[in-house]
Amino acid sequence: MTVFGKFSRRHFGKLAGLSALGLGAHPSRAAAAAAADGAAPASFPKDFVWGTATSSYQIEGAVNEDGRGRSIWDVFSHTPGKIEDNTTGDVANDHYHRYREDIGLIRDIGAKAYRFSIAWPRVFPDGAGKSNPKGLDFYDRLIDELLRQGIVPYATLYHWDLPQALEDRVGGWRSSETAKVFGDYAAHVAARITDRVSSIFTINEAGRFVTFGYGLGVDAPGLKLPDAEVNQVRHNVALAHGLAVQAIRAQGRPGTRVGVAENIATCVPAFDTPENVRAAETATRELNAGFLGVILEGKYTEGFLRYAGKDAPKFTDQELKIISTPTDFTGLNIYAPQFYIAASDQPPGWSMLPFPNSFPHMNSEWLRVGPETIYWAPRLAAKVWNVENIYISENGTSSEDKVHPDGKIYDLDRIMYLRNYLRQLQRATAEGVPVRGYFLWSLMDNFEWIFGYGKRFGLYHVDFETQRRTAKLSVAFYRDVVARNAIGV
Ligand code: BG6
Repeated sequence: MTVFGKFSRRHFGKLAGLSALGLGAHPSRAAAAAAADGAAPASFPKDFVWGTATSSYQIEGAVNEDGRGRSIWDVFSHTPGKIEDNTTGDVANDHYHRYREDIGLIRDIGAKAYRFSIAWPRVFPDGAGKSNPKGLDFYDRLIDELLRQGIVPYATLYHWDLPQALEDRVGGWRSSETAKVFGDYAAHVAARITDRVSSIFTINEAGRFVTFGYGLGVDAPGLKLPDAEVNQVRHNVALAHGLAVQAIRAQGRPGTRVGVAENIATCVPAFDTPENVRAAETATRELNAGFLGVILEGKYTEGFLRYAGKDAPKFTDQELKIISTPTDFTGLNIYAPQFYIAASDQPPGWSMLPFPNSFPHMNSEWLRVGPETIYWAPRLAAKVWNVENIYISENGTSSEDKVHPDGKIYDLDRIMYLRNYLRQLQRATAEGVPVRGYFLWSLMDNFEWIFGYGKRFGLYHVDFETQRRTAKLSVAFYRDVVARNAIGV
């Protein structure tokens, strides 16, 4: 027996205390553990990027201005019964006209980065062919104003507003033609903005819009396709991502960085044992094999192909090469734990545990509370795919956000959520998980897709009658985190 063999767990606790002297347990792990458990201030790495995020259809409005074509969300939101409160994004936050004021809101937080999306139908009203000369003018103005106010722009090329013309002409993402013209669109945008924008996200949350838009019929375009077609749609979207990466490399300024923003299927070890962690690693790889996996590995896993069987997507080696064109970073949108994973004696060696009905959630029912998700998702992604630069491209929560009689909005539940998630994110960075930045969803309340204006995710409250923006209490919370680059006191 070694001398350490005699130590009990309590002794290990003491031993960890020696880390302050540079002895004993791994110092950063011990500091991270202390910070995660208590209230001690915990710093993020130097140069950590703090930002907020939005998307075009959710905030811009101005749907008929300056030559913009229709998107699938225009058509979908105008279809009776699709949006809970029967609203549309026609006006939304009127950001198209109020962008200066809105950028001022970001500056007031002190955040130095802003992730926005470009509306494809503004740039190519028919999806392809002739570009709209005024299409990128708005984004030029936006980017210039961001830079003027000292905020670094991060652009997303696709946040779900597919040109309706493509849906009508070729069946939208059902056709690889859409992937091809997405590459052309990416080339066009890159040639215009990469003198000022050096980070571009290709596609936002394929995992969500493919399943909900093409499989379950809940999101635009509202299709309920059989599994084989849904898998083909996902493959076409992955191909579009790869073509866009290549187009940006070809047309963008050298040094332009590009990556995807994906709602990774989040797997959390049911509790922390080495066996459960290994099981969560395997589950992360398998449950993300259809999109993130093929992008980062250049192949579909055997498990994925076996499970899909005759419904597996059709693909060529050449397509897999394009899809897995190396990227510079990986964006992970992280809101909730989707799967709690335990090791299992049965194949495939892991199992998903059922959620009890009493599992807590935020104001959106789907948004279960699991702060450790933002620790495990990047840690497991870094381990499974060896990715070197991770951004949390979205994280945040809805809250009821009623204006109090004194005119203020006390969103204490959002602060509770953020405080706990950011603690866990800090724990990840302290342990060396390569997370480089964080974009809080969202800068302001907006059109929340099928929930219309009924769910509020903003740091700023928006009165949609008057377009008045009011800082919620969480603005003060986030401003403090950003200013100190730390969580806790
Ligand atoms: C993310 C999307 O999945 O979740 C955002 O990228 C969206 O666009 C956010 O606003 C909240 O989703 P939902 O479905 O509650 O509106």
